[in-house]
Amino acid sequence: MAQQFFKSKALLSRLKPEIIPWLKKTVSKKRFEHIINVSEVAKLYAKKLKLDHYKAELSGLLHDSAKEIPSKKLLRLAKKKRIKLDKVDYKTPHILHARIGEVIAKEKFKIKDKDILGGIRCHTLAEPKMSPITMVVYLADATEPGRKRKKAAPIRKIFKDKGLEPAVLQAINNKLLSVIEKGGSIHPLTVTARNWLIAHIKIRKSRD
Ligand SMILES: [Fe+2]
Ligand SMILES: [Fe+2]
Repeated sequence: MAQQFFKSKALLSRLKPEIIPWLKKTVSKKRFEHIINVSEVAKLYAKKLKLDHYKAELSGLLHDSAKEIPSKKLLRLAKKKRIKLDKVDYKTPHILHARIGEVIAKEKFKIKDKDILGGIRCHTLAEPKMSPITMVVYLADATEPGRKRKKAAPIRKIFKDKGLEPAVLQAINNKLLSVIEKGGSIHPLTVTARNWLIAHIKIRKSRD
């Protein structure tokens, strides 16, 4: 095991026995299953990429902890925490569960690690300059076994054939298309994230 993973291994072993029972009483059974799936898949992907899989697992475990908080409360909490809000956040406050999930990870579980927090914060809208662990959590959320095969299978194939970034780009594209199909508004953060990712993939390709 790489030396630098010891700290996150200790953090996961300390927090997991606390997080699991808390999640069980905080979210529905279905959501709990999704959360466990995401954390397992994130761990698997991180291992495959030789990244810190303890961080990926922990981030996955906390990514949807605020998912069942009602919209009004999410908005209230976001304002209280001085989270910068866009018009789209006011229209669809449920997307704030990712940013409120980050607040819970920081305040309730005292997590300070940028990758772990990034995975939680970015899993719905994505963000420019996402770290590899953050992208792994995004990808795991889109492809865990409970997701519809029709949508998840092509993303999994891209991950297998082309790697992390192109798979995340495909997952972002799918999410954007589904918002468009429903006539919804696109959050500007996702547009910036996608533009960043396209440029990032080009730069990586030119280096290879
Ligand atoms: Fe979520
Ligand atoms: Fe999720």
